[in-house]
Amino acid sequence: SATLGQHAAARGKYFGSATDNPELTDAPYVSILSSEFNQITPGNTMKWQFTEPQQGQFSYGQADTVVSLARSNNQSVRGHTLVWHSQYPGWVDSVPASQLLGVMRNHVTNVAGHFQGQVIHWDVVNEAFEENGTRRQSVFQRNIGDSYIAEAFRAARAADPTAKLYYNDYNIEGIGAKSDAVYAMVQQFKAQGVPIDGVGMQAHLILGQVPSSMQQNIQRFAALGVDVAITELDIRMNLPRDTTKDTQQANDYRAVVNACLAVTRCVGITVWDYTDKYSWIPSVFPGQGAALPYDENLNKKPAYTAIHDAL
Ligand code: XIL
Repeated sequence: SATLGQHAAARGKYFGSATDNPELTDAPYVSILSSEFNQITPGNTMKWQFTEPQQGQFSYGQADTVVSLARSNNQSVRGHTLVWHSQYPGWVDSVPASQLLGVMRNHVTNVAGHFQGQVIHWDVVNEAFEENGTRRQSVFQRNIGDSYIAEAFRAARAADPTAKLYYNDYNIEGIGAKSDAVYAMVQQFKAQGVPIDGVGMQAHLILGQVPSSMQQNIQRFAALGVDVAITELDIRMNLPRDTTKDTQQANDYRAVVNACLAVTRCVGITVWDYTDKYSWIPSVFPGQGAALPYDENLNKKPAYTAIHDAL
């Protein structure tokens, strides 16, 4: 039967997976990654700590490996991520405040320039808001100010005019204070001519807690004139798995897929890796996991069937 990627493509969308370089030595894993999905996101190796570990010294070997694997499989690539408060090298904290805007622009220009023509999207800025809708006090916010997000988007557009430029965050899948703040920012960017093309909803969700307003929220962003992507989908549960939880998880995955399918401008869905073998969840949320559509032995779970049937 057809793959998730093929079903999504028939609907005019993609269905993708994150991956990471250490996993690429796992041949059975790579076989499924290469066949089932029509989009790939490098889970780590496009981040600042990997691409500019020393100031002015750019390093693209690992990210290039993921991009060339994707190209050989006819998969599109989402670039993730240019400016983020996490996983950046320590030297950035030592840049004098008055120089950080130039340093940020130089990073964006180099990285987006290197991958020009090879990525369909860039997550230009990641996770810039707090839950209450205020700006996160990152090094960029503290030393550059509110304007750093718009400046990052302008630099990315100049470096890669063909990539769609996304703002990406978590806990913005439903309507609430945080998604309201992102909505207001997108509205302002559109009014001011700041080049934004899309909003990425990470969708690191909890079992049984798909926001009921998700479709409506996707729709309101689309109505502003931006695309929406579900960029890092996983649905975690308290371990151990059981049949009841697996059934709930399948229902939850189906609800997310249906919310995206219902909105033309929802362009695709990416799971944050596809197998529980390589999920980031257990290391960050102790006692939780089993968040992905394949188990740790690369067998399909009920969530896989639900996604497949919904697409
Ligand atoms: C995670 C990776 O999956 C982990 O391997 C890494 O240790 C930490 O980052 N939001 C994001 C992603 O935007 O970049 C994060 O990825 C997960 C949360």
